[in-house]
Amino acid sequence: MLAEAGVESARLEARLLLEYVSGYRYTDLLMSPENPLMLPAQQVFDELLARRASGEPLAYLTGEAEFRGRLFQVSPAVLIPRPETEVLIDLALEKLRGLAAPTVVDLGTGSGIVAISLALECPAATIATVDLSEEAISVARNNAGRLGASVKFHQGDWFGPLAGQRFDVIVSNPPYVAAGDPHLALNGLPHEPQMALTDGADGLDCIRRIVAAAPAHLNPGGWLLFEHGYDQGEASRNFIHATVTGNPVVLYMKGDARFPQCGFSATAVQILKVCGVDDFVTVNVLADEEIRNGVKEYANWPTIPQLYIKGEFVGGCDIMKEMYQTGELQQMLEGIAA
Ligand SMILES: C[S@@+](CC[C@H](N)C(=O)[O-])C[C@H]1O[C@@H](n2cnc3c(N)ncnc32)[C@H](O)[C@@H]1O
Repeated sequence: MLAEAGVESARLEARLLLEYVSGYRYTDLLMSPENPLMLPAQQVFDELLARRASGEPLAYLTGEAEFRGRLFQVSPAVLIPRPETEVLIDLALEKLRGLAAPTVVDLGTGSGIVAISLALECPAATIATVDLSEEAISVARNNAGRLGASVKFHQGDWFGPLAGQRFDVIVSNPPYVAAGDPHLALNGLPHEPQMALTDGADGLDCIRRIVAAAPAHLNPGGWLLFEHGYDQGEASRNFIHATVTGNPVVLYMKGDARFPQCGFSATAVQILKVCGVDDFVTVNVLADEEIRNGVKEYANWPTIPQLYIKGEFVGGCDIMKEMYQTGELQQMLEGIAA
């Protein structure tokens, strides 16, 4: 039935449903194929097969999904974990490495896969989460309890419940499919919560809001990591615009203020500090090729670092040096220096 319905791994999925309704493991089924399936279980199996054939995702039928080697409970209130989200976790772990007691927030936690994986794989970190959906939070809370992860849950709109709080790492897998995208009608997506998939607009609405508000919630040298669609790279220029207009001083550099990864970037950081500016936002261009190329296009300037003050492009390291020597830079930074 599943193969006829076009389910890709029909045999495997039928077997998983059989294991689910019978309570037998695969090895039990192989070794004792004569084990009878009692009538109620047979009926449930037939019903589940029919629902799967009509497109309902397997994870919603069994109520669980595996992610990073752990079993998470899922319901139609949460997105089914996608394997590509592991990249977000690997990147976050890389940024957390070496920090003694880092703080992290997972925006749009859904079933809690990101926050819980980070809590279990980086026990030194304090992890907070936010989701607009109370039902999703209840699923995530349940998963955290079952898997023994210590995570704090907030219900609200992105940074809404986090006033005044700053983090070393902000992670998010926000809804990023554009309204009306034909993919929303395929592969079981109509069964998943629409608020987890699409922003109801151009697909970049949530990303724009998160990017614009993130600097006010990042510790110096902190990181914002988020998942985005395969075709949203050109939107990097919008992010650059949002970042440079949303923050008084922004330095696009190699590395970050604590660990500059080229001499010019280190000099730019030093000049800002000598001018008395401690609280500037840095964007590490080595972490994102699209931002690296995007910022060169945005400013029409071929090299990194690049300094922006109050939304205006100022220049690179040599220009900063010259402007510092003439006192022009200090003038531009007046009112911003701590
Ligand atoms: C793509 S799902 C990600 C779920 C989970 N983090 C994962 O990776 O599987 C996006 C999540 O963002 C939540 N969300 C949507 N709009 C939100 C908002 N304005 N504020 C907070 N969370 C929101 C949805 O409820 C959903 O759980």
